[in-house]
Amino acid sequence: MQRFYRVLADPRFQVYNRQISKLEAKREFCGHDQQHLLDTARLAWILTLEEKLDFSREIVYTAAFLHDIGRWCEYEDEKIDHAAAGADLARPLLETAGFERAEVDVITAAIAEHRLLPQECATPLGRLLSAADDLSRRCFDCTAAAECCKYGRMPAQERPVY
Ligand SMILES: [Fe+2]
Ligand SMILES: [Fe+2]
Repeated sequence: MQRFYRVLADPRFQVYNRQISKLEAKREFCGHDQQHLLDTARLAWILTLEEKLDFSREIVYTAAFLHDIGRWCEYEDEKIDHAAAGADLARPLLETAGFERAEVDVITAAIAEHRLLPQECATPLGRLLSAADDLSRRCFDCTAAAECCKYGRMPAQERPVY
């Protein structure tokens, strides 16, 4: 997990997350804070084990912690897709942390497609991230569910709770 911890300690990662928390201060919907990243990582790892997928915990946790790193870009310009922006921002962080070229490609491809429905994702890691991202949300007791664009993706009564 050494390279994962290098990403967490990277000053760019911390700046992006501080920017996100500043821009989400008044957000009525659920946010993209460190708790969301940790929940997504744990859920993605549970799914990896359940489905016996061939990803290391380091790859899964790193992808999960970076998947929303571009969220601040979308708050500053709503025409920007935070998944695409996040993939671009993640690449140099992954390279600095020592991930191999092929690993960087797998993680950034997954980040780029994490907003799609799991069944729409082209890569196994993207599908994992998308599913874990949805499962991390407490839609079953959300007061803003009626106005949330994501709520319709999976009705609360059909959601498994992990
Ligand atoms: Fe996202
Ligand atoms: Fe997310």
